[in-house]
Amino acid sequence: MTAASSISDPEALRREAVDAALAALGLDDKARLLAGQDLWTLPALPAIGLRSLVMSDGPIGVRGVRWTAADPSIALPSPTALAAAWDPRLARRAGRLLAQEARRKSVHVLLAPTVNLHRTPLGGRHFEAYSEDPLLTGEIGTGYVLGVQDGGVATTVKHFVANDAETDRFTVDNTVAPRPLRELYLTPFERIVKNAHPWGVMAAYNQVNGSTMTEHRYLQNAVLRGEWGFDGFIVSDWLAARSTVGAVTGGLDAAMPGPRTVYGEALATAVRAGEVDEKIVDIAVRNILLLAARVGALDSAPPAVAPADLPAPLDGEALAREIAHRSFVLVRNEGGTLPLAPGSTVALSGALARDARVLGGGSALVFPDHVVSPLDGLTAALPEGALSYAVGADPSDELSIAGAGFDLTAVCRDASGTVLATLPLPTGQIQWIGADLPDGVTHETLHSVEITGTFTPRESGEHTFGTRGFGGFTLTVAGRTLYDGDQDRAPGTDPLGAFFSEPVERGRLTLPAGEPVEVSLTHRPVPIPGHPFKGVSCCLVHLAPRRDPKDLVAEAVAHARGADAAIVVVGTTERVESEGFDRTDLKLPGHQDDLVRAVAAVNPRTVVVVNSGSPVELPWRNEVAAVLLGWFPGQEAGHALADVLLGTEEPGGRLPTTWPAVLADAPVTATTPVNGELAYTEGVFIGYRAWEKAGTAPAYPFGHGLGYTSWEYDAVTATPEAVTVRVRNSGSRPGGETVQIYLAPEPAPGTPERPARWLAGFARVTAGPGESAEVTVPVERRAYQVWDEALNGWATVPGRYQVQAARSLADVRATATVEITADPERRRS
Ligand code: BGC
Repeated sequence: MTAASSISDPEALRREAVDAALAALGLDDKARLLAGQDLWTLPALPAIGLRSLVMSDGPIGVRGVRWTAADPSIALPSPTALAAAWDPRLARRAGRLLAQEARRKSVHVLLAPTVNLHRTPLGGRHFEAYSEDPLLTGEIGTGYVLGVQDGGVATTVKHFVANDAETDRFTVDNTVAPRPLRELYLTPFERIVKNAHPWGVMAAYNQVNGSTMTEHRYLQNAVLRGEWGFDGFIVSDWLAARSTVGAVTGGLDAAMPGPRTVYGEALATAVRAGEVDEKIVDIAVRNILLLAARVGALDSAPPAVAPADLPAPLDGEALAREIAHRSFVLVRNEGGTLPLAPGSTVALSGALARDARVLGGGSALVFPDHVVSPLDGLTAALPEGALSYAVGADPSDELSIAGAGFDLTAVCRDASGTVLATLPLPTGQIQWIGADLPDGVTHETLHSVEITGTFTPRESGEHTFGTRGFGGFTLTVAGRTLYDGDQDRAPGTDPLGAFFSEPVERGRLTLPAGEPVEVSLTHRPVPIPGHPFKGVSCCLVHLAPRRDPKDLVAEAVAHARGADAAIVVVGTTERVESEGFDRTDLKLPGHQDDLVRAVAAVNPRTVVVVNSGSPVELPWRNEVAAVLLGWFPGQEAGHALADVLLGTEEPGGRLPTTWPAVLADAPVTATTPVNGELAYTEGVFIGYRAWEKAGTAPAYPFGHGLGYTSWEYDAVTATPEAVTVRVRNSGSRPGGETVQIYLAPEPAPGTPERPARWLAGFARVTAGPGESAEVTVPVERRAYQVWDEALNGWATVPGRYQVQAARSLADVRATATVEITADPERRRS
């Protein structure tokens, strides 16, 4: 590289600046730079012009460094929803919006996307991953990473690798043979590294084949960096780094969170003791400095995206609404029930229609400044008098964070009772971890925090109140002290468990609807012995009066009987699917199945909207007129739903994952390790690959989804490298079609066992009524390859392949055949 060319090449300038910055650092500063200084940041080193790097979750919004609704974020639909749109360009726009949010919150690194696979529908974070198919996952992830990085913000593609379930996630050893590891679990990471050039990867909690991922030399150093050429930084999942020498020699660059980590002082000591070569530390420091350069946090280097080149600002609400309607999967629509006829009267029911669950829990949680529920959205879209609502069934029969009806403030006091800070509290939750405390408050000075304000009940009856968290609590409602005592900490295995304790009931009061009462919960935090960071975590929890489930159903039935159409919103709760645990069944909680059956019995135009991040059993699915899968639809949920139900927009989603009729049919269900080990014994057969092998029909197959128009597949021609498909919109309204290309190898003796078919490409087209559209879908050589364990490399399987152009795995519309020849080097041998 000559001096002249380096001046015109920003990447070379960045690398020169990184080298110069590195050369100016002593061992202690280098070791310090690799260690989180608090929950979300790495330390600044002003002497080299390095600002503190700020990281934040993640995937559907940018929470920022504060875990509070006082710092709201745009909440897009869940990752399963984004994948259901089957559109990497839409994912790229989502990424650009998130970069814009990150910049607004001074965040440099977005802790996303999650590209683990839907190995089993029971995975607790299924909602947060894209698909059971590695190609679809890789393509959506590529679009997302490109979009975030278009905005000059880094991504950390996570969780590398095989973090496909939650049970014992900190310790589980996932044993995966090389072939499924390469063909399934590594593939999304590989595609994203090669096609989107991510600036970061997050190492998972779990072990793979005996080595914990933060120390996995083979997968991190040899495969990710060596084979694929990844040149970004690797950050540990939160608290995943276990040992100083193991992590740094295993390729881990940053140990998060801080302040206590395996790096910092411990790393400097290890170097001085001769246990680690300083050159290895330098490699990690270089990776962090390059990250800083790329995101514009190293003064001497030009950022990867100059301010003048930032993408045009996006409207977050509009994009959230668009992604939602593009993601809704209409799996059943008998007799064209949807869209609803203009002028229809609508009976809406389901607790989730009023209190929608718009995003998943755990680290994916963000706090939008508003949520449009289905009830809000339909109320806004329908003429007055056309809509009625009844709860019908309420699946949340547990105490949950005080929300609707509460008007709350937090008051922080020191030991003498002097007020240190007062701040509005949009819900009854406080979660202040590490340095994330209100201005004017420190962990040392804070003695108590009082959640205080009013509660105006929505329903008359017996209201239950309680607390969540550890330490001292005094709870008073309407002048009555319901609790005054200490809640001890139960020992748990998950280090983050201290922040996710169970709610505890403290008392019940009968209250009339509409009349405000005073509430006050004073919490006296206690330090968590031995815990890596300080925190204040407590919640005021509440449960509205429980009514007889039969009465609730009867009320909804009475509404539904007289309406032109009935819409029932059913779904899961935070206790059913979230981070930190796996599901044990796929049932809808509470009496939601009873509600659907009862409403469908009186209204032939019953439409069920499913509000869940991942598959649930729908035992009544053939008894209702229409079923629309809505995922966790993001903050604009209700507007998008109204758009689709009333036909302003077409539902655009196709299933990114097979939807089982019953859990017992699902091919892979084991999530619990045996003696610490979770064996991926199914090999390359997960998702539809496994369903087809077993010959079992699911409720809805991979790729399935209906729109509001119909399509003819007029022609398909294929070469080994590309498939060209001509489709015609044979219906009466404009629409979009997702053309799916599957490869089915003709059986040939001596070839390795492979799935019957697999996805090789896809493309979305749009066309007006009567119009045709032609699309060419590239097919990569990899689509014809398997990982050859003897060769330790990819090998093409020669032979004839049927190329299928399909609307879903179960709806193949046109086929062609290609003949694939062996790899040249293999022919020679
Ligand atoms: C999750 C990560 C997340 C991190 C920081 C971990 O528990 O597994 O996905 O990015 O916390 O919140």
